[in-house]
Amino acid sequence: MRCDDTPGGTQERADCGSAYIDVDELPEGLIVLDGDGVVLSVNRAAERLTGVTRRVALGRHIGDGLPFRDADGRDWWKSLDPHGGLAIRSRQPERPLHLPGRPELLVATRLVRRPERGGPVVRIVITLRDASARARLERSRADLVSTVAHELRSPLTSVKGFTATLLAKWERFSDAQKLVMLETVNADADRVTRLITELLDVSRIESGRLQIHRQVVDIPARARRIVAGRVAAGEREDRFHVEVRGELPETWLDQDKIDQILANLVENGLRHGRGTVTIVVEPVEWGVAVSVRDQGEGVAPELVGRVFRQFWRGNGRRRGGTGLGLFIVKGLVEAHGGTISVQRAPGGGAEFRFILPTGAPDFG
Ligand SMILES: Nc1ncnc2c1ncn2[C@@H]1O[C@H](COP(=O)(O)OP(=O)(O)O)[C@@H](O)[C@H]1O
Ligand SMILES: [Mg+2]
Repeated sequence: MRCDDTPGGTQERADCGSAYIDVDELPEGLIVLDGDGVVLSVNRAAERLTGVTRRVALGRHIGDGLPFRDADGRDWWKSLDPHGGLAIRSRQPERPLHLPGRPELLVATRLVRRPERGGPVVRIVITLRDASARARLERSRADLVSTVAHELRSPLTSVKGFTATLLAKWERFSDAQKLVMLETVNADADRVTRLITELLDVSRIESGRLQIHRQVVDIPARARRIVAGRVAAGEREDRFHVEVRGELPETWLDQDKIDQILANLVENGLRHGRGTVTIVVEPVEWGVAVSVRDQGEGVAPELVGRVFRQFWRGNGRRRGGTGLGLFIVKGLVEAHGGTISVQRAPGGGAEFRFILPTGAPDFG
């Protein structure tokens, strides 16, 4: 059997060069009909997706054995009309179809002609995919769009409100009042910018486009820098403690991303936690472990699986965060080949601990 001579009867195997193809191993459903619509072959995935066994389907006309319908209940075989229409028509793009009482499937069809251009249809090859995964994906995307729209609208509503008020009643406000309003507008504009920057990070993480530029990074020095930044911004110095345990190996990491990870975890410790924020850096077998601890309430065990999800915020909703921070942190750690987890800190509070492999200049 030649490779371009795919299932022609009871045969379901083809020897294509060196690869031996068994249609039952295909993840997608495959149904082959002759030019008149008689079922010649049904693979295992197609049996599962349609709920029709090949014993029932083989040798019958597709209109009897597998009567596909579109969303409006129209007979698919009639609408396919393989022998009508243009004689060069070779395919029907993927579309959602269902069998009576069965869930929707995504069905793509190929009309095989002999001779290839303009000849009569001698075979019809149909592939089937489960539509529910796509529907789920679309639903989660729709949820994401509505969340993002909502997150962007609230600061913009405030910006619009204050600018409209100032424009309409400029003379009626004192300089001090105007200053307060402009400060609010400024903070809200910052929030929108930050949200957009974070969303771009999320999109890079999700599409696997995050690039790691490795260089030698001194993690304790980066941690001290983040702390110095918070102190310069008005935080008390005694709220922080950076500790190095043992001899650290040389680590090849992306410095900007390490800063972003540390800044996010420190910010969470300050905003969601309480007391001192401690950063411990220590060597582990295959790299370096960094723990960021605080002395607040910590993360309840039942919420541990949730904190790293997009837009998930505990009672942080009142505290001005976007709920994207830890999702991004996890993505950045994993892009380095590392892992992150959260547990209870030794003295209570939350402890976020990530482990990064030492890396090497020639990979990543
Ligand atoms: N150090 C912490 N202590 C307690 N809860 C925390 C801590 N860090 C994060 N969380 C919880 O995890 C949620 C998600 O964190 P994150 O993704 O950084 O979003 P955000 O900080 O914008 O709320 C927070 O809203 C908070 O409920
Ligand atoms: Mg955060």
